[in-house]
Amino acid sequence: MKTFYIETFGCQMNFHDSEKVAGTLAALGYREVSRPEQADLVLYNTCSIRDKAEQKVFSRLREHRREGGNGKRFGVLGCVAQQEGERVFERAPHVSLVCGSASYGRLAELVARLEAGERRVTGLELDAESTFETPYTRRENPYRAYITIIEGCDKSCAYCVVPFTRGPERSRMSGAILEEARRLAGEGYTEIQLLGQNVTRYRDPSPAGWDFATLLGRVAEIEGIRRVRFMTSHPRDFVAEIVRAIDANERLCNHVHLPVQSGSTRVLRRMQRLYDREEYLERIAWIKAARRRIAITTDIIVGFPGETEQDFEETLRLLDEVEYDALFSFKYSPRPNTAALALDGQVPEEEKSRRLVILQEKQRSIQLRRNARLVGERQEVLVERYNPATGQWVGHSAENRTVNFTSPGGAADALGGRYVAVRITRAGPNSLVGEWRGEAEGR
Ligand code: SAH
Ligand code: SF4
Ligand code: F3S
Repeated sequence: MKTFYIETFGCQMNFHDSEKVAGTLAALGYREVSRPEQADLVLYNTCSIRDKAEQKVFSRLREHRREGGNGKRFGVLGCVAQQEGERVFERAPHVSLVCGSASYGRLAELVARLEAGERRVTGLELDAESTFETPYTRRENPYRAYITIIEGCDKSCAYCVVPFTRGPERSRMSGAILEEARRLAGEGYTEIQLLGQNVTRYRDPSPAGWDFATLLGRVAEIEGIRRVRFMTSHPRDFVAEIVRAIDANERLCNHVHLPVQSGSTRVLRRMQRLYDREEYLERIAWIKAARRRIAITTDIIVGFPGETEQDFEETLRLLDEVEYDALFSFKYSPRPNTAALALDGQVPEEEKSRRLVILQEKQRSIQLRRNARLVGERQEVLVERYNPATGQWVGHSAENRTVNFTSPGGAADALGGRYVAVRITRAGPNSLVGEWRGEAEGR
């Protein structure tokens, strides 16, 4: 029997793509193995969002270079594949397959051509009009299932490779999304995460013509589903209806990830983000005015070309104003094809590092303060696993905080996949600690 190994880098979109690729290969008669040494076909699903991510795959390919031959094949998938195209063959000559995410619909055909002995095959068309749909998805998490609702991105943020690596926006039919969600609920999944580079641009191509808020409400109505999450929202396309939908249905998780990138309007303009500081804060105000408490998280880039000390201070002030529940922060990394390459005012590496540390320290104290307020509360937790090293169960609250908690019988309680009530007893900057207080009420 033929075997394959797949390693994934990058975002949840990539992670879920790999689940679909693995399912597709299984349907072609391949068996998945857990080490590249054992595999006939070694695949890397790659990320090129920052230079470091791109370098990772080439170092992986170098590590296993000598294992080529004996019929063993290497393939590069995902964003580096799309960005570098045939250049991958020059940089790593033992690679035989290069395929971007917009071409996964052709994966079965490309693999068949490899099996027939072709030395090099590529799938690099980017003008896809359809999304990658497959009935074969090998899901890693038994409780939470990802569903892609929109692929690609039509924005042109000056720093970002995604429009070049994932192509134009295309939404899936609402009927296909609901059918997948219903099937997953039937299989026992209780949490659904709707995925897209910009889910707020979702537009149902079928005659129903639903917008994103409508889709959210419909997915949350499905029998058996207890939690619906979504990633990522773009501030420009984020509308008040989304907050209303969250208020109207408890099954929609009270968490919005709304990447701001910078607190300075001047920098936001240079980034071509299509909103200014005030417009962003208006969205935050909608979220904070909701009846339910809604957690807010964000992404920030420091050291974008031309970012002055003053601009950076505006970002720091934004953190105080919004009080994010979590923050993902990055040093600006120049990327191929992007508009920012032509901007002047590159910020030195040491200065980027300095700003990153200051930003992260500030956020750490904000998170400590916010999490401390939760001590004494009861929170609903979807339990993921038992950690024998600490004797605690690990799960997530609806607001997406990590919660570690003890239960009377420990591992013997077999809580995996259950929704339980946990009383919070301690808070750190990145997680909560608590005690089991019984089953959570259904909703
Ligand atoms: N579609 C999402 C984000 C995709 S990438 C959105 O629009 O928000 C995830 C994060 O990586 C971005 O939010 C940004 O903060 C960061 N990022 C993207 N390109 C980057 C670059 N060239 N350098 C540093 N960080 C970058
Ligand atoms: Fe990149 Fe901007 Fe598109 Fe997000 S919205 S994927 S940051 S181009
Ligand atoms: Fe990386 Fe591509 Fe995702 S660049 S972040 S894997 S869309």
